Amino acid sequence: MTAVTDHPDPAPSRDTDDASVPRIGGTDGVALIDASSWLDLDPLVPLFDEVPADPYVEEGFRYKAISRIRIRGTEPVVGPHEPLYQSLEYNPVHGDIDRRYAPLTDAMVSAVAAPLRMFQVAAHLPQDEEVLVQVQRVTTGTAGDIGHPAVEGFHQDGVNAICILLVDRVNLIGGQTLVSTTADGQTLVFAGELRPGQFLVADDRRTYHYTSPVWDTGTARGHRDVVLFGWPSCRRPADGESALPSLGSLRTHRTRPTFREMSGGFLIAKANGGARGWRRGAANGAARG
Ligand SMILES: [Fe+2]
Repeated sequence: MTAVTDHPDPAPSRDTDDASVPRIGGTDGVALIDASSWLDLDPLVPLFDEVPADPYVEEGFRYKAISRIRIRGTEPVVGPHEPLYQSLEYNPVHGDIDRRYAPLTDAMVSAVAAPLRMFQVAAHLPQDEEVLVQVQRVTTGTAGDIGHPAVEGFHQDGVNAICILLVDRVNLIGGQTLVSTTADGQTLVFAGELRPGQFLVADDRRTYHYTSPVWDTGTARGHRDVVLFGWPSCRRPADGESALPSLGSLRTHRTRPTFREMSGGFLIAKANGGARGWRRGAANGAARG
């Protein structure tokens, strides 16, 4: 099982085309990227205070804004704003409905561009591919009230690849992220409490993900702030269209191997000839949380 590890040594290059970025593949379909030592989260952290309440979570503990963004060259380009759509097959709570959220602000779009490029590389996405970007805060109450980062339980998003970037955790307990290769959550390939700057990237076709509830520390209202990436970008498919591109059409665009073509476990982090850091399995540390 993949566990949260200390950040790799040497750290991955800022050049996201560098072979140092771990990629999802192999049998587990999940990879952890720890960018906490170099990814500047300072521009992103305060922007979560501007995220509007999620009108589809009546209890009021979730806040969410979404945009579809592609990277052209090095610049983020925002696509037409449309509702978030997932089929009932994948989302029993909010499936088959158009969920209308506010778009990311310009400052948010700018701040998520570098993490988005990391996701593109880690998930083998072609350049210029549109990605769903969700900026999401889950709050606790102040008297033991619980927040649920994943109201669906173990689930798939109904896409090809997903990513969770943990931006901030304040005054809260819990929030362990779990990834299983079975829907009952019994076959874990990742379990850990993500820290700021850590990305978890997963092949959504082969894995189910979940984050456990969060509650306050008894001192103040807590919150957990994440950026979620998903590809394809969860637009409502036109009549008769599949929500997912076929593997055949993916191959015509790919310059990197598909998930299924990967074998032999994780690609090991390599930078400047080094090969320490992430390895398949829990070689570098025990799971936290
Ligand atoms: Fe999800």
